[in-house]
Amino acid sequence: MSRTPSQLVDQKEPGELMAPTPGLSGGVRSPSKHDSGPKHVTGEAVYIDDILEPFGTLHLAPGAATIAHGKIVKMDLSKVRSAPGVVCVLTADDVPGVNDVSPAHTHDDPVLPDGIVQFYGQPVFCVAAETREQARNAAKLAHIEYEELPAVLSIEEALEKQQFVAPPHVMAQGDAVSALARAKHRRSGKMEIGGQDHFYLEGQITFAIPQEDGDVLLHCSTQHPSEVQHNIANVLGRPANAVTVEVRRMGGGFGGKETQASQWAALSAIVAVKTGRPAKMRLDRDDDMVMTGKRHDFIVEYDVGFDDDGRICGLDIQYATNCGFSADLSAAICDRAMFHTDNAYYLGDVEIRSYRCKTNLVSNTAFRGFGGPQGMVAIERIIDEIALTLSRDPLDVRIANYYGINDRNTTPYHMTVEDNVLAELTDEIVASSDYRKRRAEIDAFNADSPVIKRGLSITPVKFGISFTTSFLNQAGALIHIYQDGSVHLNHGGTEMGQGLFIKVAQVVAEEFQIDLDRIKITATNTGKVPNTSATAASSGADMNGMAARDAAITIKNRLIAFAAEKYGVAEAAIRFVPGRVMIGDVADVEFADLVKLAYLARVSLSATGYYATPKIHYDRETASGRPFYYFAYGIACSEVMIDTLTGENKVTRVDICHDVGRSLNPAIDRGQIEGGFIQGMGWLTSEELWWNDAGQLRTHAPSTYKIPACSDRPEDFRLELWSSGRNVEKSIHRSKAVGEPPLMLAISVHRAIADAIASVGNGKVIPMLDTPATPEAVLYAVAGVAKGMIARHHDTIAAAGE
Ligand code: MTE
Ligand code: HPA
Ligand code: MOS
Repeated sequence: MSRTPSQLVDQKEPGELMAPTPGLSGGVRSPSKHDSGPKHVTGEAVYIDDILEPFGTLHLAPGAATIAHGKIVKMDLSKVRSAPGVVCVLTADDVPGVNDVSPAHTHDDPVLPDGIVQFYGQPVFCVAAETREQARNAAKLAHIEYEELPAVLSIEEALEKQQFVAPPHVMAQGDAVSALARAKHRRSGKMEIGGQDHFYLEGQITFAIPQEDGDVLLHCSTQHPSEVQHNIANVLGRPANAVTVEVRRMGGGFGGKETQASQWAALSAIVAVKTGRPAKMRLDRDDDMVMTGKRHDFIVEYDVGFDDDGRICGLDIQYATNCGFSADLSAAICDRAMFHTDNAYYLGDVEIRSYRCKTNLVSNTAFRGFGGPQGMVAIERIIDEIALTLSRDPLDVRIANYYGINDRNTTPYHMTVEDNVLAELTDEIVASSDYRKRRAEIDAFNADSPVIKRGLSITPVKFGISFTTSFLNQAGALIHIYQDGSVHLNHGGTEMGQGLFIKVAQVVAEEFQIDLDRIKITATNTGKVPNTSATAASSGADMNGMAARDAAITIKNRLIAFAAEKYGVAEAAIRFVPGRVMIGDVADVEFADLVKLAYLARVSLSATGYYATPKIHYDRETASGRPFYYFAYGIACSEVMIDTLTGENKVTRVDICHDVGRSLNPAIDRGQIEGGFIQGMGWLTSEELWWNDAGQLRTHAPSTYKIPACSDRPEDFRLELWSSGRNVEKSIHRSKAVGEPPLMLAISVHRAIADAIASVGNGKVIPMLDTPATPEAVLYAVAGVAKGMIARHHDTIAAAGE
């Protein structure tokens, strides 16, 4: 049977399915539980550190630099080498191939530095010993002498020295300078936005198992198996086909394992190949926090012009970003911050500049939102400042600035927004949250409450879906059907808790019309699907779902052609219904029986699938194009209470309405929205990273770095998947990406805190609230507003001539 599978199956418009298919268990739209959910809870889910260790397994520990910047003058590792249990010690000299794991081939991420230390805590050597304890103890015995060099530890200093990891970049529309000059009102300001540690429950880990011929198999906790494979091949000086990377699941990635798994994979691979013994590198929590990059911290400076309605008519905005010592993904991250300067608003004449500052700190990396959140935090604060300046409700200023449908709809990167649902979402949330009434209640409460102040804020989210590096928008899949009709599913996406595997399995179940439990979800493996992109940019389900559907359709078409011939019916008369295949009015066979017959007739039951996102293009030189296939939207209304004497806050109620298009799995989507929101709230309120003057991170454990606890969950949390959710583009079953966008709904919490602080000055003084809004930051902002009131009072007295 040599027919190509072309478009033989009359592809049902995927968006037709509004509800789960009756009679099918676990097709699309069904709230199937996470395939690993019960295993997560019982502890049966196998993470890399749970894989049974073969006899002879070695354990690795890194040896860290104790300065922020300098030359290694002398490295005496003799005591390390002779410590109990030590089998080998690696330095830069032991890297057999290229000593670099930089993701964008910037050649600035050494596995181990060759002579120059770039940040405090950078691993400079690595110990392999019989036990982990022995390796860690031995690592403490190094004697290293340095010649210190000046260390740049702040964004300001890097800017002053014009020290960058990538060239500055500009994005513009119209003429911001003259628009600002013409503006009726104008405000300028500065905001500092803090970083964030990923705090995945499973830290960085790779378990390397040596194979024949010097090859190696890596069990690696990575979002990007293909990149680890290629990097490690380079490090070993071997071709890519000598390295296989497998990932069953991660205990969280959040962007922290998009590029930064390679260094640990490289060390374990070198040891495994060198010693012929399995080698495991698992970072201790403190080491993980010190040695791996985080969300980028930003300093934003802005100058905004607006009219009496609060409409922005000119904006000049500058981002200076702490990238750390190397480029990593910083260029793309800073770009995405620029792409989200607008959030939901038409900015008109605008100039956006971005400086990618190089510091002697750990190299910052992807983190849920990928720079987008930082851009959006800034514009949301700007909008609030406009509202306070004009004494208008911030919601009205937001609405006045929303993108229009037929006009005011071009972004600063010259893309037309074609799927704007902001007005609809806003109407929903204003009604469901009872915003106007609560606004009045809160104002009344605050007028009578000198210490405790309440705040309320609605903020929207519009987030661009697609990798902004266009070529990354591709995915592959592999499906086998065995003779009993059971299905083996594989694709290039990785599971980090987000529910990708179950969603893709649901897509395949729907296509074949078989129950979900007939489909085996299998570990991501570079030997099965090659040259994949990172599971990132929230596009995992969009792209791998499409690739898997493509593979399924290929096999389905073969089955259809086979059945048509065998039973002498037209192909169009063959229909897949739950569990069965209807062959015109001639026959009705079970799916498994048809599969068996096809096998006996020598029909291939295995296929690959592929997908490349259509429509996208972007010219970075001119900063224009259509980088995003579509936008994901959401909106949140948060209410908080602050104590103006302690600076503490409590989130008392949150209402969310989020657009997931037509959900592939509403249960998973709800989990993503809840988790993303809480993670965003942690970033903006309690998670504070602090380095001392020596460049040493002092918040490197949960004792000093405070992520949200269960008790920080809003008391009243109302979450709605938008009932009119839709995707104008032909995404997988018309769903929308959900991984990152909800994180930015938490900006409403930050703005609600600012709103509460503003009430200290009766809304007449603008609070200067940076992020995170820790109790200290809130106290400072409260004090600033109180001082502003006193200053205003004196001005009034002076004006009155008293
Ligand atoms: N959810 C869980 N539970 N764990 C994670 O590590 N990572 C987030 C998001 N949701 C993450 C998560 C990030 S940064 C991204 S880009 C997406 O999931 C990636 O998965 P997706 O593309 O399949 O949504
Ligand atoms: N998101 C996440 N990862 C990426 C991107 C992006 O837009 N571009 C390159 N890597
Ligand atoms: Mo997510 S930051 O794109 O891994």
